[in-house]
Amino acid sequence: MTSRQFPHGFVWGAATASYQVEGAVTEDGRGPSIWDTFCATPGAIANGDTGEVACDQYHRYPEDIALMAGLGLGAYRFSVAWPRIQATGTGPANPKGLDHYSRLVDALLAEGITPWVTLYHWDLPQALQDVGGWAARDTAYRFAEYAALVESALGDRVSHWTTLNEPKVASHAGYGSGIHAPGIDDLGQRMRATHHLLLAHGLGMEVLRAAPGRDHTAGITLDLSPVVPVTDAPADVAAARRLDGDSHRLFLDPVLYGRYPADVVDDLGGPAAFDFVQDGDLELAGAPVDFLGVNYYRRIFVRHSPGEGRLEAATVLPDGVPVTAVDWPVEPDGLRELLVGLAKDHPSLPPVFITENGAAFDDEVSPDGAVHDQQRLDYLRGHLAALHQAVEEGVDVRGYFVWTLLDNFEWAEGFAKRFGIVRVDYDTLRRTPKDSAAFFGSVARANAVEE
Ligand code: NOJ
Repeated sequence: MTSRQFPHGFVWGAATASYQVEGAVTEDGRGPSIWDTFCATPGAIANGDTGEVACDQYHRYPEDIALMAGLGLGAYRFSVAWPRIQATGTGPANPKGLDHYSRLVDALLAEGITPWVTLYHWDLPQALQDVGGWAARDTAYRFAEYAALVESALGDRVSHWTTLNEPKVASHAGYGSGIHAPGIDDLGQRMRATHHLLLAHGLGMEVLRAAPGRDHTAGITLDLSPVVPVTDAPADVAAARRLDGDSHRLFLDPVLYGRYPADVVDDLGGPAAFDFVQDGDLELAGAPVDFLGVNYYRRIFVRHSPGEGRLEAATVLPDGVPVTAVDWPVEPDGLRELLVGLAKDHPSLPPVFITENGAAFDDEVSPDGAVHDQQRLDYLRGHLAALHQAVEEGVDVRGYFVWTLLDNFEWAEGFAKRFGIVRVDYDTLRRTPKDSAAFFGSVARANAVEE
């Protein structure tokens, strides 16, 4: 048994997102978001599930905070629902919406848990989608106004901010494949959405930096994975490069360097296909961040697949790789590889926080009511050991947030896929910590993982 000790001050937390856990979708003046609309679209979500009630965290947050405090977690990463703050995405703040998050922040601080606020985790006000959503440049300016409202209400107590969560998924799944809200499948809209999300990040950073008298720690969260060609054949290698470019470097390079990567621009149709970029946009997107949030779940294996979209790249599962309940390969060493690669490729990489990592498994409730989720526990242990190796290899990683505190609304998959370290019974909304919760709590308390 090896004990892997993390650096002093390493942050241990749990993450959630507003639409996935809150419920209470019509309460206290909240307006509809694109996810409310999408959930009402027949066939969009598995089993017709919706976030109407979800985990009811809007009302039950004191219980959830008590659970985290009991586990010894030091931080909670949650997102603010934009349509609670501005029902239609514009105009003055809704005081009841702000009050909710203000109470949540106070309750966290009272337990010694540091709030980490994500400003955008995909629940765009529907009224903004009605005028183009992220494909419209104006949405980025609306985001900056919204960010300023949230900052001025919470910024005296919240000092850790993430502008956007996984902009790639917001643009590519929302506007490029249509499997997420708003359900659009159009490359032109997708490319505009990508750019306007990056612009929104830059404008949001500006708001956070300009807030008088505050000293915020601010950054962005990207979903990143090593992308591996399934063979050494040049066609597979090139397909992997294209997919990595379109999924990862398309976001990473603007954020780190204020530019789009030339090869990705070519893959997506050349500079003419980026005619919506205006002077100064990329400088804004590339303004220095205090940290890079990394969500890691899996390696991505790619094969050249003629006819498979513009990139002709298909994601495949190699034989014999163990998978989670959402068919993602379990690849703990991919986390080490990703982080070491990031640090090597980007000598000026800001400090990294793992803002999400975790796994869905088909949990079973034992007759005694417990959930012995050994697979999730092993997944976490393996990934934490890999994370520790990356730290030992010199990568400046400062914290880890498990995805996720509670079983919750897993977007297009609905409630069937459970990622929580705490089980939620959706009939009673009862919370039951799983074995993985006890394990994660012991890691947080010891600041070490036993292997
Ligand atoms: C990343 C997303 O940020 C989160 O909302 C989602 O539930 C997890 N991945 C798992 O798919």
